[in-house]
Amino acid sequence: MEWRRQLGQTGMEISAIGFGSVKLGRDHGVKYPEPFTVPNTAEARTLLTKAHDLGVNLIDTAPAYGGSEERLGNLLQGQRQNWILCSKVGEEFDGRESHFDFSGKHTRASLERSLRRLRTDYLDVVLIHSDGNDDGILDDGEALQELQRARDEGLVRAIGMSTKTVSGGTRAAELCDVIMATYNPAYTDELPVLDCCSNLGVGVMLKKVFASGHLPAGHADPLAYSLNFALSHPATSTAIIGTINPDHLSANIQLAKTLCAEEPRGS
Ligand SMILES: NC(=O)c1ccc[n+]([C@@H]2O[C@H](COP(=O)([O-])OP(=O)(O)OC[C@H]3O[C@@H](n4cnc5c(N)ncnc54)[C@H](OP(=O)(O)O)[C@@H]3O)[C@@H](O)[C@H]2O)c1
Repeated sequence: MEWRRQLGQTGMEISAIGFGSVKLGRDHGVKYPEPFTVPNTAEARTLLTKAHDLGVNLIDTAPAYGGSEERLGNLLQGQRQNWILCSKVGEEFDGRESHFDFSGKHTRASLERSLRRLRTDYLDVVLIHSDGNDDGILDDGEALQELQRARDEGLVRAIGMSTKTVSGGTRAAELCDVIMATYNPAYTDELPVLDCCSNLGVGVMLKKVFASGHLPAGHADPLAYSLNFALSHPATSTAIIGTINPDHLSANIQLAKTLCAEEPRGS
């Protein structure tokens, strides 16, 4: 397996671990096993510095992750060139619950707001943040058309969808550069989406590789088992892991590097 991987056919090379930033911006309305508070600025800076120093080059954020985009915009000033930035459109979180809007108008406004918040003039990846009705969003088509337009304009390098169904994931793979899917030892329903992306050469970002902290029982080392499970699928470009614990961050990266050095992919 490789630590640096191609993101499908986008021409981008990304680290096998991505920095998931939900917990950087939002500490309620989430389903983690333990309560937590969002890190302060110094703590968030430490996490990003550590991730970068250990070779991570991908950050995943979204408007729905509370203050995540805005905080990243502040923290990444002067180092935009070090990072592949992925954000999303379609889901809004008002502090209590999520609302969804997949219209072309909202898609454009959301993308322009992400650029402002992240203090950049382009995003590397923008994904449609599905509400679960993947097929409905694709049937409607407006969000994807707007992202295609943004890609043509150079505002976005690659576009895709964070899907929740096999039907939507496989359809989106035909239309997009990148798919974000869920895959871990306790949840393999979306395996056909990964296989489809592998066949099409579409980049795959995995979310919830550690089942959002609900790690599988019955394994001596559930972290290593889960990470190896995710990274060894031939479609996987990166496992986006959400941690705000710097020791966990270092351990996850070291573990991934060890697995990548040891295991031939797909064996
Ligand atoms: N597009 C979407 O719909 C969507 C949905 C969910 C997530 N995502 C993206 O995927 C990222 C990851 O998803 P996720 O945060 O739900 O799940 P995850 O990465 O599977 O799990 C994160 C949880 O695992 C814990 N953890 C991480 N490393 C650990 C370690 N070495 N030892 C013990 N516990 C550890 C973290 O706690 P600590 O903080 O204590 O380490 C955190 O509670 C998100 O941040 C987000 O960027 C996208």
